[in-house]
Amino acid sequence: MLRELVSLYGPSGREGAVADYIENKLKPYADVSRDSMGNVIAHIKGEGKKLMLAAHMDEIGIMVTYIEDKGFLRFVPVGGLSPMAVLYQKVKFKNGVIGVIACSEDIEPKDMKIKDMYIDIGADSKASAQKKVQIGDMAGFYSEFICQGDIVTTGKADDRIGCFMLLSLAEKIKNPSYDLYLVFTVQEEVGLRGATPSAFSVNPDIAIAVDVTDTGDTPSAPAMAVEMGKGIAIKIKDGRMVTSEEIVALLENTAKKENIPYQFEVMTAGTTDGSVIQTSREGVPTGVISVPCRYIHTPCETFSLKDVEGGISLLEKIINKG
Ligand code: CO
Ligand code: ZN
Repeated sequence: MLRELVSLYGPSGREGAVADYIENKLKPYADVSRDSMGNVIAHIKGEGKKLMLAAHMDEIGIMVTYIEDKGFLRFVPVGGLSPMAVLYQKVKFKNGVIGVIACSEDIEPKDMKIKDMYIDIGADSKASAQKKVQIGDMAGFYSEFICQGDIVTTGKADDRIGCFMLLSLAEKIKNPSYDLYLVFTVQEEVGLRGATPSAFSVNPDIAIAVDVTDTGDTPSAPAMAVEMGKGIAIKIKDGRMVTSEEIVALLENTAKKENIPYQFEVMTAGTTDGSVIQTSREGVPTGVISVPCRYIHTPCETFSLKDVEGGISLLEKIINKG
């Protein structure tokens, strides 16, 4: 299922294929609906507080802005992209067309900016390029799914891992101690735009977002206590929120009791859907669990399946009545 999820096309604002896949998977377990922005909202009825879990369906990508006379495409990022991460990577459009990102060769690598880059789709003229791609078309990064032992390398891990975790959880819910809403949001990467209206409509008592986080375990990485394979991360703070003490305690106490490895996460930049759920309406106690992930926002995002499994069982233990 994870392999399928990371193969689906879904740059921010174009999540339809991911939403269709998720809706189909959830139908046996939940009342599923889609709101006017495209968020998928699945309700699994239970007694108790209303708990919203959120993961985003969209992925970072690019949008075509201009087609050169020779058929090369100029583009802008959709979501946060570093020039280093995209050079000589492949992108795939909704219609299956694949292009290669290259850069003007008279620019030193350290000075390369995305505006100096272009996409080569093998077209020899503007007219032949226009037969395949239009202005405004989006593409996601093309990547393989590589699994070596517990370690997976793939694009779109951010945040199809979160979607995978919530789908896996839905299969395991028997007797929930919460009135549970699984929300699969749109447009996280371009400003948390799906989480805002869905948190308003669900109107939860408490919430937990599920996403990826950076690690500090690679050569010369900034000092960060999170390591790949050392357990699901319980977020304390990121670039835009301080998580709820009440939810952190719930996550930590459950992990301890159930012997699920965990680590605390303080991320200095970036955020998740959790930050806007927390401040929706009159405020919602909100926590975040994160899968430690190396090389986020590249086609080589790398993480451990052990951390993913730990995260799923942590949520399951919190939700299922003992
Ligand atoms: Co992201
Ligand atoms: Zn994310």
